[in-house]
Order: sequence, then C-alpha cells, then structure tokens
Amino acid sequence: MSNASRSPSDIFNNEDSNTTANPHFDAVLAARLSRRNVLLGSASAAATTVLGSAALTGCATAGGAGNGASTLSAPLRSMGFAAVGKSLADKVVVPAGYNVQVIYALGDPLRATTPAFKNDGTDTDWESRAGDHHDGMEYFGLDAQGKPALNATTRALLAINHEATTDEKLSSFFIHANGGASTLPRPAAEVDKELAIHGLSVVEVSAQNGQWSFNAGSAFNRRVTTMTDVLIHGPARGSEHLVTKFSADATRARGTLNNCGTGKTPWGTFVSGEENWYGYFFRDAKDDERRGKKDKQVAALNRYGRKAGAASRHGWESAGSDDRFVRWNNGALGASASADYRNEMNTFGYVVEMDAYDSRQAVRKRTGLGRFAHESVSFAKPVAGQPVVAYMGDDARNEYMYKFVSAAKWDAADANPANRLATGDKYLDKGTLYVASFKDNGTGEWIELSMNNPIIAANPDFEFKSDADVAIFTRLAADAVSATKMDRPEWGGINPRNGEFYMTLTNNSNRTVDGDAGLDAANPRYYSDMKGSKESKGNVHGHIIRVAQANPADTSFKWDIYVFGAESDADKSRINLSNLTDANDLSSPDGLVFSEATGLCWIQTDDGAYTDKSNCMMLAAIPGQVGDGGKKTLAYKRTDGSEKRVDTFVGKAPTEDTLKRFLVGPKDCEITGLCETPDGKAMFINIQHPGETTKMADIGDASKYTSQWPANAGYGAGKRPRSATIVITKADGGVIGS
Ligand code: FEO
Ligand code: CA
Ligand code: CA
Ligand code: CA
Repeated sequence: MSNASRSPSDIFNNEDSNTTANPHFDAVLAARLSRRNVLLGSASAAATTVLGSAALTGCATAGGAGNGASTLSAPLRSMGFAAVGKSLADKVVVPAGYNVQVIYALGDPLRATTPAFKNDGTDTDWESRAGDHHDGMEYFGLDAQGKPALNATTRALLAINHEATTDEKLSSFFIHANGGASTLPRPAAEVDKELAIHGLSVVEVSAQNGQWSFNAGSAFNRRVTTMTDVLIHGPARGSEHLVTKFSADATRARGTLNNCGTGKTPWGTFVSGEENWYGYFFRDAKDDERRGKKDKQVAALNRYGRKAGAASRHGWESAGSDDRFVRWNNGALGASASADYRNEMNTFGYVVEMDAYDSRQAVRKRTGLGRFAHESVSFAKPVAGQPVVAYMGDDARNEYMYKFVSAAKWDAADANPANRLATGDKYLDKGTLYVASFKDNGTGEWIELSMNNPIIAANPDFEFKSDADVAIFTRLAADAVSATKMDRPEWGGINPRNGEFYMTLTNNSNRTVDGDAGLDAANPRYYSDMKGSKESKGNVHGHIIRVAQANPADTSFKWDIYVFGAESDADKSRINLSNLTDANDLSSPDGLVFSEATGLCWIQTDDGAYTDKSNCMMLAAIPGQVGDGGKKTLAYKRTDGSEKRVDTFVGKAPTEDTLKRFLVGPKDCEITGLCETPDGKAMFINIQHPGETTKMADIGDASKYTSQWPANAGYGAGKRPRSATIVITKADGGVIGS
C-alpha cells in the first residue's frame, strides 16, 4: 500500500498508535526487576536468561555458523547492465537487453470456465479471478509431472499476496461499473466483490521458448479470500481472546487480510504477513463503555489502532445483517464473545502459512510469530541441530523489529518433507519471540517476549496471563520491555553471502528530534524535504538497517545502516549520508529480497516523497557487510534549543557499480514482491496499484485515469489500470543482473 499522502488508503498504511514513552531500557529493567525481587525473592537468574550474555561473541562473517553462503550458485561480483534513469512515464522501464511481460493481472480468470475479464466494472466471479494489489510473491517449482521440484526453471506455482484495493470514499472504485457507492450503507453486491479481491492467489506459470504465461485452467490455481476458513495454530489457539460467533473454541477463523510481505520456509511453504488489518473494522463510539474499564481489550484495541468510534475503510459491516458483513463490526454487541464479533480483529495480524502445492489444506495462522502489522518473514539459513530463526518487522510509525526462534531444532530431512504444513507445526507452533533493542554503540539485544520474562509477567500496564496473551497483544509486550521504536519496518532479507539480516525502514513522518519518538542511533535522521510546494519532515526517505549475528539464535547482535534513502542533490552531511547519485538515488525502500541465485540485493520502493521526479523503482545492490563503514555523529537542536548529538553507524557508501537503478514502474504504482527461477534467469515482480490517485468521479473517462497500465502495454481489455505480475528476462537468456 502506498506511502504517499495521496489517497484515503494511505491513512491505513500510516498507523501511529505507539504512544508509549519507552524510557531508557536499563531504568525500566532496574525498576521492574527490583519489584520482582520483592515479589519473588530473586530475579537474577531470570534476568540473565532474558537479556542473554551482554558480551558479543563476535560478528558474523562469511563462513560463520548459520550463514547462507553455500547456497549461492554463482554470486555476481559486478552488474552488467547500465542503470536506468528516473522516469515519470506510464510504463515499466528496464535496462537495454531486458524483456518485460505482463502475465497475471487483477481480474484474470483462474478457471477455464471463468469468463474473460472485461475490465469495465461489470465482471463477476471474483472468487475465481486474480485479486487486487499484488504484493509479496514466492516461487514454487514444478517438474514436468506437476510434482514439487526445487530446481525447476520452466514450470512453477507463484503464490501471491493481494494486499488491498484502490479506493476513495469507501469504494474500490475500479471494480465497480460507476465507481461504486461512496456512502453508507454499502450495497451487498459491491461488498461481496471487495471481500473476494483480498487474500492470496496460487497460479501456475510456465515458459515455452523463453515466453512465460500463466495457465488459467491449472488445477493448482487457488484463491484464499477474506471468507476462506483458516485454522488458528500456536500459543493463541483456543484463547478466550479469539472466541467468536464463528468459532466458540477459538480454533478456527475466516480469511486473511491485507497480506503484504511474504517468505518461504525452509520446508517449502509460503508465509504471508497480515499488515493493516485493523482498518477494516468498525467500532461504535459506545464500545469502550459497553466493554467496561476492566476489559483489557479496550487498551489493546487502542494500541492496535481501533479506538471506539473508528470508521472502517470500506464500510463492509454496513452491507446487511448477514454474518459475512456483521463480522466487521468489532463491537461487544452480544451477550458473550461467542455471540458476536468483539474478538474478530484478534483473529487477524498474524503470519499465515500456506502449502502452495496443496489447495486442499487450510491456511494456518501461526500465532507464535506475534500479532502486529506484519510484512515479510526472513528465515535464516537453517543449520542442522540449531533452531529455525525468522526475522520480522511491524510496519507502522515507531513500531518494532522482531525475531522468532523455534523450540524444535532443524532436521535437514525436513527440507523436503512429506507433509509440509505438519512440518510448519513442528517449527512455528512452539518457540520464542524476541523484540529488538538497538544501542548507540553499534550493538543490540533481542529481548524475550514471554511469560519467562519477569518484566512481562509482572507488567503493571497490561496484564499478561499466558504466552497466548503475548502472542495476541505482542505490541503491548514489546512496549513493556522498551524496544526501539523504528522508522516503519517493512521487508527483510538475509544476505546469502554472509547471513546478515537487512530490513527496510521505509520512512517516518512522526520521527522527531527529541520527545517520545526522538532520534536514536538506529533511526538517526530528521530533516525537511520539499515536493513542489509541499514540505515533509521527519525521516522522509527511509533507510536500510542490517544486523549481524554470530548465530541467528543469539540474543546479541551488531548493526549498522547499509544505506540512507535520499535525493542525490540533498546535503551529504545530514541527509544524503550514503552519497547517492542520479544513478541510484531512492526514497522509501520497502520490498527487499536477496537473490539466492546471484546474491544481489533487490530493493523496491513504495514512495510518495520523490514521485515528483520519478515513479517507484527497483534497484540492485552488491552490499558489503556490517561494520564496513564508520561512526557518524549528527547534531540537532532540541525543542528547548539545546543541542542533541546522535551517534550512528553508516555502512560504506555504495557506488554506481554497487547500487544501480534497474527498473522504474508506471505511474502511481509501487514496486513490490520478487521471486525468481532458481537459475536467476527469470524474475517475477509485482506492479501494485498503478493509477492509484485517479479520482472516483472520473470512472468511465479513461482519459482521466492517471495510469492506463497494463492496457497501454498491450495487456488485456479495457483501460482501467490493474495491479499485475510481470516477468523479466534477459534477451540473451542470461542471468538477471549479470
Ligand atoms: Fe504493505 Fe508496509 O507495506
Ligand atoms: Ca523532494
Ligand atoms: Ca510493504
Ligand atoms: Ca510501504
């Protein structure tokens, strides 16, 4: 979803519910441990467990335990393409020598019997069509017989997130003939279409003579929508806070929503993060009162962006008395939790796991990975006998970075298991969640979020009764341990050359010099940027942080900032700290995927700040490693006029040879999702929401659509813009980026 302050959808991607003051961690720890001492006698042993060893055991380097260097078939040491320029054209721009094909766009039929897409707002059968706002995506190879095959390069399944839809005044206007209803109540027929365009797709694709296409008649094709039955797994399964009229025993739920980033597990399944789900729920103004002061849900609902009186993004709850509409009203309206949907919102906000190869198996919500605005899930390369480790972020202003460490130790035989989701149960249903605390000396700690942590067990601000509560109310647990507030964590990736973990921090309009969200070493920039006559302040262009661990399961780490987003002509001493040039300047990094084939780091943008100069883009990088740059001190004026100095750690500046713009998308889109054939010769990416700033009132007048892509690239009927998957190949058949 877009970052720009351009359409109503932005409201839902720019949440800011973290009002905690988060005093210095040591002070909190001291205070809470001393109280715990009084209560329990001694806390010293527990404190050691929680914090891990304070001493760093040395930083990860190539060849160290847990790194993925050996998976690289042919790491590229240089990139052979000429950087493309910034572009405002309504097309996909790639370097000379590369081809782009559109293969799967909003509305495309998933069954041989589904009518062709007319793209005029009259189409039906949305459960059997491509959903909207293609986002994260993963590749699952198939052999000629249609069996899973890790190395397959010409036939595969793509599992794709359909995050959201282009909307204005409630309605998803491109899929309704006249743009739809902009007032409440919403017509049921419109809402039914909107319920179906969210969720996931699985589609079969194949190549013949280098030309890729998607197979509309494949038996593998699948849609998961907001209405699909799913299973609750992990510590929150059966929790009182997940009881709904739909599932009184809290073991089942319906659908997945606002699926943003993705990941691929070491056992070959697809995982998807539910991001801005809270915005789809309605809560009337009296709901706090109805629930009563003692209901801790009131605090949780506020912390998760749903204050009493909150309107919903599309008004789905207004479309009638049927359960499929009523469930979006999160009020405590019935006699008990099993008589209404007061807990429905608690069934969203998880990582969901799907077996792309087996459409008969229900999607599983892996609650052990915590509940927040999930983006991607990055699995460290698994090592036999060691836990499985997954890194994640919570994308909202001033939210946190997380890590999950499995209880089960990795068995290499699980890389190709007979039952993939049962293997997911083994590694993802039991484990420990951690949240990141970044220190100003270039180190950091992963702090345990569980009832084993005395700070959480004795938290005075919010009562945690069990690890189920920690899984459901994760943000409140992270608040209690004073995690570091970040500049909107988006995608993560593991550098296969050395095992280091990268995470994009896309931007933060609420970063301030001092105060609750004051600058810190890991989020060290505050500046002003102009877009025409509009000024933005904070960390307008974002940055990419990276973390090195000797062993991914360790609680200590080292970090630095790989690159700071900036406009190339910005002040190099305060803003353009990575010395970006016209060939590689970028704003609002979002997608980030390391190629397993080449080791290249692909960076995608979802920007609204630099879009006066360029549409959103994708760049390729050969980054170095944590510590290859140096310390930098930035000086600011506090609100009281005194000086605030912030020490940070800036990675070695990229050059035009090590960071290059590879692609620019059509107008009003973001570039997101990336997967590739194992040989690195075909790369699939998603173009999300072209034409997003079109006015609903202009539906029917194609000349006023701000984009007509992909129709203007020769793909499909009609002129309404469509989110779509494209495939990029090299004309000479070579490896992408070489
Ligand atoms: Fe869906 Fe945070 O982007
Ligand atoms: Ca600017
Ligand atoms: Ca994103
Ligand atoms: Ca974004």
